[in-house]
Amino acid sequence: MAETFLVTGGAGFIGSHLCEALRRRGDAVRVLDDLSSGKRTNLPPETELIIGDVADPDAVLGAMAGVAGCFHLAAIASVSRGVTDWLGTHRANLTGTIAVFDAARRQPTPVPVVYASSAAVYGACTDLPIVESAEPRPLSAYGADKYGCELHGRVASQIHGVPTVGLRFFNVYGPRQDPASPYSGVISIFCDRISRGEPIAMHGDGQQTRDFVAVEDVVGALLAAMALRPADAQVFNVCTSVPTSVMELAETIAGLCRRTLTVQHQPARTGDIRHSLGSRNAARAALGLADTVPLRVGLARTLDWLGLSR
Ligand code: NAD
Ligand code: UD1
Repeated sequence: MAETFLVTGGAGFIGSHLCEALRRRGDAVRVLDDLSSGKRTNLPPETELIIGDVADPDAVLGAMAGVAGCFHLAAIASVSRGVTDWLGTHRANLTGTIAVFDAARRQPTPVPVVYASSAAVYGACTDLPIVESAEPRPLSAYGADKYGCELHGRVASQIHGVPTVGLRFFNVYGPRQDPASPYSGVISIFCDRISRGEPIAMHGDGQQTRDFVAVEDVVGALLAAMALRPADAQVFNVCTSVPTSVMELAETIAGLCRRTLTVQHQPARTGDIRHSLGSRNAARAALGLADTVPLRVGLARTLDWLGLSR
């Protein structure tokens, strides 16, 4: 039966793909977004858009009325913004999440909430692949706030009976990730520059590795997590368990674009994590996830969306 879901941050990169998937299966979608980084044009037709702040309790309460579940993705998704605007990002990222849990518990029946956490909660964990039971040691305000979301997710569940699932996204990529944004991930930047034949900046030796997960796989995990509606709060990694070095990534994109790679070496970013790799075992078992999209396939889709020559 068709239901209505609230998607906070639905006009953003990941949120808009989720909205499309919900519409495809026939559900109604309501989005709460302040359009600070998201775009109205990202939304599929027949999406109800409420322009508002997720840290405004009245706005969230109004948006939550009558929904079957809430996907909470609204956040200032930038580690560097957390450095320059600590309190402002805290308000959006943690106060906003508590506002969502609070509105969920105030409904006639508590509304289940699936929310975006991040691999940033792990900090520089060196025991790879990282399992969910590893001790969180965030190294940024962003990671600390995401861990705070998980702690409050537990409170929401244990004290207020709100089913909550937190998903620790690793490095997400795919269509609609804006290469022009100062907070863009490496894949959108490299796809943009390499396909135009422009040089890329390689921070450090390029042998640092990441677990790049396609946005389609993230949407699959979000939908499966909503179906779980657990009595106890749950947290899962959303990743591929496949490591890729940043240099290997650049070479793969250059190969897909049939371009010669020009690399400008720069110093490593301060505090850059050397290796980030998640274990997918718990999520696969609990959420019954399918195989992940291979990197080359996901990169080809991203390049096609960018309308870039390959
Ligand atoms: P995004 O910036 O494209 O989307 C975030 C959305 O939230 C935007 O539409 C923005 O306008 C909205 N928003 C921001 N502050 C708001 C506020 N105060 N009130 C209402 N709306 C607000 O980012 P994304 O990559 O789609 O990230 C979605 C979620 O996933 C975020 O919670 C982010 O922290 C998390 N995440 C993303 C990644 C990644 O690699 N992209 C990795 C880990 C976690
Ligand atoms: C990413 C997320 C961050 C999240 C973290 C969790 C993005 C933009 N950032 O950070 O929100 O908290 O994962 O682990 O998605 N690089 C280059 N050249 C470039 C751009 C990047 O060499 O032009 C390198 C970086 O130095 C880094 C790697 O590529 O080593 C990945 O960078 P980036 O995509 O910014 O993501 P993370 O730093 O992993």
